Amino acid sequence: MLRITVLVSGGGTNLQAIIDAIRAGIIHDTQIARVISNNPKAYAMERAKEAGIEAMCISPKSYDDREKFHDALLKGIDDADTDLVVLAGFMVVLPPKLIKKYAGRIINIHPSLIPSFCGQGYYGLRVHEAVLARGVKVTGATVHFVDEGTDTGPIIFQQAVEVKQDDTPETLQRRVMEEAEWKIMPRAIDMIAQGRVKIKDGRVILS
Ligand code: GAR
Repeated sequence: MLRITVLVSGGGTNLQAIIDAIRAGIIHDTQIARVISNNPKAYAMERAKEAGIEAMCISPKSYDDREKFHDALLKGIDDADTDLVVLAGFMVVLPPKLIKKYAGRIINIHPSLIPSFCGQGYYGLRVHEAVLARGVKVTGATVHFVDEGTDTGPIIFQQAVEVKQDDTPETLQRRVMEEAEWKIMPRAIDMIAQGRVKIKDGRVILS
C-alpha cells in the first residue's frame, strides 16, 4: 500500500480528484495518510475532513522563523510514514532538506505544459493570465517529480488543452483542471503505486 501525504494551500480540487479516484478504483493500492495545509483557511482541509482523512495545518505564522516552519513540515510528513509526497496546489517553496530526504518521492501538478509558463512567479491563476497574454493556442498541465529547481524535475505525464478565443484566466483554469490536472495526477499516483515509474538520467521511464 502506497502511503501518500498530500500538501495543499487552497481549494483542493486536485485533492478531491485523488480522493475520488481512490474511491472509484482508478488509483490502486494507495492510501492518503494525511493532508497538510500551510493555510488554515484552505477549503482543501474541509474536503479532507469530509473524506475522513486526517487534516493538519502547519502555518509559517505559527513559527518564529522559516527553519522552524520547515522542520515542522518535514516532521508532519515523516510522522505520517509517507512513501510519496503529493503537491496538489501547494504554494510553498520546499526546503532543500525535504527535497533531499524525499528525492524521487515528491510529485507536483503544474497548470501548464512545462517548460512553458513555469518557474518562479508562475503559479495558480498567474499561469493562465500569462498564457492568454502570450496568445498561445494550446496549454495544458504537467505532473512531474520535484527536484531542487522550480518546475524542473523529471516529467511523468502531460496533457494538452485548447485555449479558446474568449477564455478568461478563470475559464481557462477550469478547463485545464477538468481536462488535464484531475486526470494526469491520479494516473501518475496509480502508476507510481504499481511501481511502473522510474527515473533514469533525469527522465521518466514508464513500464
Ligand atoms: C492547480 O491549478 C494547480 O495546478 C496549481 O494550483 C491550483 C490548485 O488548485 N498549482 C500551481 O500553480 C503550482 N505551481 P486546487 O487547490 O483546486 O487543486
